[in-house]
Amino acid sequence: MEPLSQVLPPSATTTPEGHLSIGGCDVVALAGEYGTPLVIYDGGLLRDTMRRYVAAFRAHDPHAEVIYASKAFWAQAVLRMAHEEDLRVDVASGGELFLALHAGFPAEKIVMHGNAKDAAEIRDALAAQVGLIVVDSLGEIALLDRLAGEHGRTQDVLIRVTPGVKPSTHAYISTGQLDSKFGFSLEGGLAAAAVAACRGASHLNLVGLHCHIGSQIFEIGAYRLAANLLAQFVREQGADGLAIMDMGGGLGIAYTRDDEPPPVEEYAALLMEAVFAEWDALGIPRPRVMVEPGRSMVGRAGVTVYRVTGTKDIPGVRRYVAVDGGMSDLMRPMLYGAVYEALLPERPAAEATDTLRLVGKHCESGDVLIQEAVLPPLERGDLVCLPATGAYGVAMASNYNGVTRPAVVFVDAGEATLVVRRETYADLVVRDL
Ligand code: LLP
Repeated sequence: MEPLSQVLPPSATTTPEGHLSIGGCDVVALAGEYGTPLVIYDGGLLRDTMRRYVAAFRAHDPHAEVIYASKAFWAQAVLRMAHEEDLRVDVASGGELFLALHAGFPAEKIVMHGNAKDAAEIRDALAAQVGLIVVDSLGEIALLDRLAGEHGRTQDVLIRVTPGVKPSTHAYISTGQLDSKFGFSLEGGLAAAAVAACRGASHLNLVGLHCHIGSQIFEIGAYRLAANLLAQFVREQGADGLAIMDMGGGLGIAYTRDDEPPPVEEYAALLMEAVFAEWDALGIPRPRVMVEPGRSMVGRAGVTVYRVTGTKDIPGVRRYVAVDGGMSDLMRPMLYGAVYEALLPERPAAEATDTLRLVGKHCESGDVLIQEAVLPPLERGDLVCLPATGAYGVAMASNYNGVTRPAVVFVDAGEATLVVRRETYADLVVRDL
């Protein structure tokens, strides 16, 4: 298990029988009790990560705000926890807005995103009186202004700016980013037009800017470049009404043993210092900084456990090992070519001797969880666990092939709590008329 210690939750250890244990719970026992595929979250790690995030940013400014990007994992249990830990929440649709309100978030702590908000979603956000709406197009600014007027409300808004900073794994560069469905680019004057439109609107109160430069970022220096461009923009536009700077999400996590993401404290220090230094250098009042982490808040806390349903050896080609889930519970390998590690909860320390392709149960050749896994010998009935599946895993699950979505359990200090029950076949027909 040692080489996977950065990928698994820190509570991962082995039981006296040699099973994988997370949050003090035997993963083999959990799979037996709740069935597979099963998504297990270390609830203690979720809470610690939320606390670490808030502490890391508030160490630099007590007014800094951490906004949980709920798209990464939107179960009620995690949303309630985020509220308890004094986070705000980012919602990107009417559905996510509903989920946040249902979990008890006060509306003023909700930040409403979306590049394609429709009038019904905007009306819902206005009726709920959400704290901030992040505007994404000139048409939306006009519509929001009109609808806010109809609601007798002056809505606080942020403008989503695309600064044109492109982080990659090994470098970051500034590129023109005119061609994006998100936000207003600095280049070409679109962001400036958005500022003018918001300032001229009767029922909008411009309070700041937002930017999100990307996701799974290890090169956190990219935030410094973004801060530099944004500070120049604030100076050009005048700081009036631009007191908030929401720097989005993006901090990466370890998916494989070779990944070394920066700790949240280092990211917070770099980001806060970058923003303050860039604003100070131009003599503009320091903004209230907000960040919107999704992946780095929940990714490492989650592991998915599957049961092997079959093996197939094609002589001279390869060995296939199929499990009882796949692209319906974890789309990332298929959609982004994401690479995951695997281990066997029943014998995590066993010697890895077999090279195999780990595949799902869906009727698609592309339903491959791991292209080339090196694992101890596996047979039908064995369990396989994929770590670091807590972000954009069940959050992106589907019912393709009529496969029911997995149960979710939180484990902490030896106790397991079922927080989302497994879907049933009956659930598959509830919407059919
Ligand atoms: N804020 C905004 C406006 C965003 O669009 C996102 C993510 C976040 C915050 C959170 O970013 P994070 O901290 O998670 O990087 N499904 C993809 C990731 C899509 C990210 C979309 N936006 C994946 O599984 O890699």
